[in-house]
Amino acid sequence: MKFTFLTLFPDLVRPYFQESIMAKAIERELVEYEVIDIRAFATDRHRTCDDAPYGGGYGMVMKAEPIARALESVARQGQRVVMPTPAGRLFDQTAAEDLSSQKELVLLCGRYEGIDQRIIDRYVDVQLSVGDYVLSSGEIASLVIVDAVYRLLDGVIRAGSLEEESHSDGLLEYPHYTRPEVFEGMAVPSVLLSGHHREIAEWRRWQQIERTIHVRPDLFERSGVTEDEVEILRAKHGGTDGSDQGN
Ligand code: ADE
Repeated sequence: MKFTFLTLFPDLVRPYFQESIMAKAIERELVEYEVIDIRAFATDRHRTCDDAPYGGGYGMVMKAEPIARALESVARQGQRVVMPTPAGRLFDQTAAEDLSSQKELVLLCGRYEGIDQRIIDRYVDVQLSVGDYVLSSGEIASLVIVDAVYRLLDGVIRAGSLEEESHSDGLLEYPHYTRPEVFEGMAVPSVLLSGHHREIAEWRRWQQIERTIHVRPDLFERSGVTEDEVEILRAKHGGTDGSDQGN
């Protein structure tokens, strides 16, 4: 899959592709990327990419012409042009899964008060918001989208890890621990040291359910968890942190 960024700040985007799992995905040719500097497509002496809004008002607007030229320069069959904006549809796991089947995503990164509407009308396929808050940088929002999408591609992360996610009924993750067994007086729940795989799986499931009920009741409502399961797990694991389990 290819990610093509159109941005006024290429140096903000490039380092992301040079580290960690993403760098490995690129090395293994699972992911390709290109970063296009919109400013290179401005034609005046000062390479102007923004201007005051028609009708007045606060701030500056990204001009249409440099963006149009930049988009035309990378136009290819089978692209999906994505523009992150707080005015977009909420980006969630389903949207990430949908985008992960595309051949190429073009991420159009806005700055200032926004982008001339005519660019959006002509070129943009989907506007996505990464959350109900306002970022100063479309680059950060674009990277959030890319990060959620590329990890779903075949071979990028261990298959088991995605499988576990997809079996979690949309619940939050269970807590994780690694060595040492005791850190500053805090012990790892003993069930995790027990070697009883079924007990461990059950305890983790209960942790997921309990966390989701408390932190994200909206997600819990939409989960596939039945009242019966909650009652059975609560009776067994409720009110414990696992330290009295599995011995
Ligand atoms: N640009 C600024 N804020 C944003 C948000 N919440 N989502 C997507 N793009 C944005």
